[in-house]
Amino acid sequence: MKFPFLTLARRCETFYRFQQRGVLLADQRLWSSALKHSSQLCKDKSFYITTPIFYVNASPHLGHLYSAVIADCLHRWKLMQGFDSRFATGTDEHGLKIQQAAEAVGKDPLTFCTEVSERFRNLFSSCNISFTDYIRTTEQRHRQAVEHFWSVLWNKGLIYKGSYEGWYSTQDESFLMPSQVGEALDPSGKEVKVSLESGHKVEWMKEENYMFRLSIFRSRLLDWLVKNPGAVQPQRFQQAVVQWLQEDLPDLSVSRQRSRLQWGVPVPGDPEQTIYVWLDALVNYLTVVGYPEIHEQWWSTAHHVIGKDILKFHAIYWPAFLLGVGLPLPKVIHVHSHWTVEGRKMSKSLGNVVDPVEHSQMFTNDGMRYFLLRQGVPDSDCDYTHDKVIKLLNTELADSLGGLLNRCTAPALNPAQVYPAFCSQAFPRDQRGRAVAEDYQMVAAVRSLPTVVEMHYESIHVYKALEAISACVRQTNRFIQHHAPWKLDRRDSKDRRWLDAIIHVSLECLRIYGTLLQPVVPEISNRLLTRLGVQPHERSWKNLDFLQRYHGTDCPFEGRLLGLDSRLLFSRLEGPNGDKLKPKKSKKPACLK
Ligand code: MSP
Repeated sequence: MKFPFLTLARRCETFYRFQQRGVLLADQRLWSSALKHSSQLCKDKSFYITTPIFYVNASPHLGHLYSAVIADCLHRWKLMQGFDSRFATGTDEHGLKIQQAAEAVGKDPLTFCTEVSERFRNLFSSCNISFTDYIRTTEQRHRQAVEHFWSVLWNKGLIYKGSYEGWYSTQDESFLMPSQVGEALDPSGKEVKVSLESGHKVEWMKEENYMFRLSIFRSRLLDWLVKNPGAVQPQRFQQAVVQWLQEDLPDLSVSRQRSRLQWGVPVPGDPEQTIYVWLDALVNYLTVVGYPEIHEQWWSTAHHVIGKDILKFHAIYWPAFLLGVGLPLPKVIHVHSHWTVEGRKMSKSLGNVVDPVEHSQMFTNDGMRYFLLRQGVPDSDCDYTHDKVIKLLNTELADSLGGLLNRCTAPALNPAQVYPAFCSQAFPRDQRGRAVAEDYQMVAAVRSLPTVVEMHYESIHVYKALEAISACVRQTNRFIQHHAPWKLDRRDSKDRRWLDAIIHVSLECLRIYGTLLQPVVPEISNRLLTRLGVQPHERSWKNLDFLQRYHGTDCPFEGRLLGLDSRLLFSRLEGPNGDKLKPKKSKKPACLK
């Protein structure tokens, strides 16, 4: 058994879960390497995760929320596992693009930045993005970090005064090689030069400025990628970086003339130049953890979540800068693909930009989070439509998960409103009771679910984790449907024991699903677990032992009163034109005898 996406530390932990669960590892090499490193690695419980910092030239859209939700999911997951996790997000406020956006609305840049930055902060707070630090690049602490970072590069002779002549895209704040530039028609039909990658307009520029010796880092960058096959995930993005590094890697312009760009950090010792916005922005990841004084503990555990459009900046420029100043490289760069809307790229000119605030109100915060993470595939672009959101949420959250909870906690089936007792004669391990083969398969599937989910969360294939959970929820619904507990007679002692065992098993399944879903849908999970009577301190990775009574140990939940909040877990949504989407027909539990 191999865990190709996991770092050694994670493999080590995953390995222990397998060991705990009595699963035999076929790969002896992994077994002994995990053992060797376990004591050293499992002690280190720091984790640091970041989102890109968001440009404030326009309001937040769905893609921004997506980057933040992925990072938030990983952060919550790590907290659940007992890690001391820090999670940074914020706004990227310097550069020509922002300077021009502020000018266009006649505002002073800082006032403009503050207004838009607050919009991002409010969006994230309202969508339960549980960041531990919100950084703005206009803050003093950041300016100091950038100045220090620059000075280290300068003192090491890695920056020199030179000149740049070539293409620049203000929209991407990026320098381009001639091979990256093509031709297109602008809205007025005029031929313009554009970036082949982003489609944004480019301009020819010629300027005296400071250059970073990027070219000398090519082989060290390649070496890093060869030695760390999981440094950029998914694999196809790592391959893309390796491919870029096979090509020419010229030195990089890292400043602009102050006369053109005033909105940024001045070059230390040369106020006629402003530091290039990407160098400024990337250093935010260090600022947050206290660079240059106290960054070490956190910096060595850095994980970045980024969209595919900013891969070059994070997987080439940033590691090269870090190698230059002599700091460790990020542990993993998690790359995600983009959202299109009804099959088209999201853009202001097409008028199809999805406002995440509006849509989170329409579909609920957890609804949006669930949709983005369930449908979002890191490897390829995904399409957003109202219909898809409504169908998915109604099927998986309202009907399947919500329906299951409803069934098991309905007073008709569970009149005492307790976590009932498990009866091992009714559901014996030797398979001679009333449970059928399919039920044992379900028990095995739910038992191994945490390990499966862990592997997918770790590699940010969250959709695979959610698919696995959803498949188990369907199995549990089939289990209930098959045994039709509503047909059992509570006055008969055998029937009662069997009925209670069915409910006990189902609630145990729900407890595992609720616990594992916390990083994705924190509000729904909280309601579900509270309804089951599971206390806040019983919701961590350590509490994922499933069906302890079946496995011969005590179950702390048995006999506990259920929580009182019996509202629907997730209400079915209506179509955009108010047309009700029909609920799937499910057999109603008949009255209990
Ligand atoms: N400011 C830079 C990042 C600097 S990090 C040191 C930036 N900002 S951004 O606001 O343009 O983009 C932020 C994030 O949103 C990126 O990860 C980007 O990929 C993501 N998205 C922008 N549009 C997107 C979609 N349509 N779909 C998914 N994510 C997308 O780049």
